[in-house]
Amino acid sequence: MNQFPYDAVVFDLDGTLFDAEEGIVSSVESAMEEMGLPIPADADLRQVVGPPLLDSFRNLLHVPEDRMDEAVEIYKRRFAEEGMYRYQVYPHIRSILQMLREGGVHVGLATSKDRFIARRVMDYFGMSHYFDAIIGENDAHAKLGKPELIRRALPEKYHCAAMVGDRCFDVNGAKGAGIESVGVSYGCGSEEELQDAGADHIVPDTESLRALLCPGAEIPRGFFLSMEGLDGSGKTTQMDLLEKKLYQLGYSVLRTREPGGCQISEDIRNIILDTENMEMSPTTEALLYAASRAQHVYQSIRPAVEEGRVVLCDRFVDSSVAYQGGGRQLGVETIQQINAPAVADMMPDATIYLSIDHKTAIRRRLNASVPDRLELENMEFFERTQKAYERLIKENRKRFISVDAERDIDSIAADVLSAVLSRLEPEAQWEA
Ligand code: TYD
Repeated sequence: MNQFPYDAVVFDLDGTLFDAEEGIVSSVESAMEEMGLPIPADADLRQVVGPPLLDSFRNLLHVPEDRMDEAVEIYKRRFAEEGMYRYQVYPHIRSILQMLREGGVHVGLATSKDRFIARRVMDYFGMSHYFDAIIGENDAHAKLGKPELIRRALPEKYHCAAMVGDRCFDVNGAKGAGIESVGVSYGCGSEEELQDAGADHIVPDTESLRALLCPGAEIPRGFFLSMEGLDGSGKTTQMDLLEKKLYQLGYSVLRTREPGGCQISEDIRNIILDTENMEMSPTTEALLYAASRAQHVYQSIRPAVEEGRVVLCDRFVDSSVAYQGGGRQLGVETIQQINAPAVADMMPDATIYLSIDHKTAIRRRLNASVPDRLELENMEFFERTQKAYERLIKENRKRFISVDAERDIDSIAADVLSAVLSRLEPEAQWEA
């Protein structure tokens, strides 16, 4: 059994699980603009994050009483259309929620947001499955208030419960509900505000929050994801988009590449790709790739996965199998043998293959930057490489995700993302 201090933990949403500032502030700004109302010069818009919206429209933005309903309506529409997509899950939050769940802790959410909107946000970010209860307000005119929201997010029975939030409203709510409060000062409320409200604990970042809520628990293993494809398949663009999205969802991403990824491996990369080295034998090349990989796994990939991070690797051993095994005709088995000690048990959990025909790839590359030594290779080389990839996919259907990459960037990115998310957290109902 775990040694966790609380058997029920209720979280606030904005400023606690999510960096919500940009999403909320931009929605408030566009609501005021749509209504033709000025934003008071002295209003600190960050203050709208946390307290009930009506209070902010009244006290901070001086919206006339007779236009209050209109303001709330427009704000909600703007938030659902744009604001919520600017949210960002704070780092470590996903692992905290996972650890609490695995430790048998009841996990609740209590937000002064409309409950349907709260649900949408949680679904979009693939977080609903972590929660036993998601509680929000359901009537703008008859507010339940924070203490009641918290009570509803708690289980019937518990020994020791805590409310985690970033504002005085959360601390006061916890008091009202008769449970402990953990103030997080990384959100929108200051340490002073939390102290004045009488928070039982105050933590400065999500790492300290994890230590407080899940002391001694093992951090869940991360995920190793590689991306493969012929030169010209659009890997870099897709890696950029995927990295950005995973970061927004709160994953701690290590983006890396092969050959390379750490100093020794980057030095080896320079030798391999140097156009001066035209006399390099295919076997030397294959061994250098394997050597570079061994260091990369040892120094970067394995430690990151063990720390719970998502490793996003541009090429891995499949590139050697396809390019050296297939393209250079050294034989798939030989390449697998050479690489066995380098890879050890660190095979990717999933591999995205951006599928394009080698002829399309070459056409694309002709418009690209200065070709390196390998890119100067002939047509047959890439045809053989493509065939070797296709064989790999056939033999490793579970690991490979093959995406048609001869389409527009956004369609490819959407397919890549949904495939990755379904592997990363199969339990989540992703709305992304
Ligand atoms: P990459 O960095 O993906 O090239 P670019 O950024 O220019 O698209 O890969 C460099 C080259 O190295 C590419 O032609 C594929 C080749 N390669 C192999 O032949 N074997 C391997 O094991 C790896 C990792 C790469």
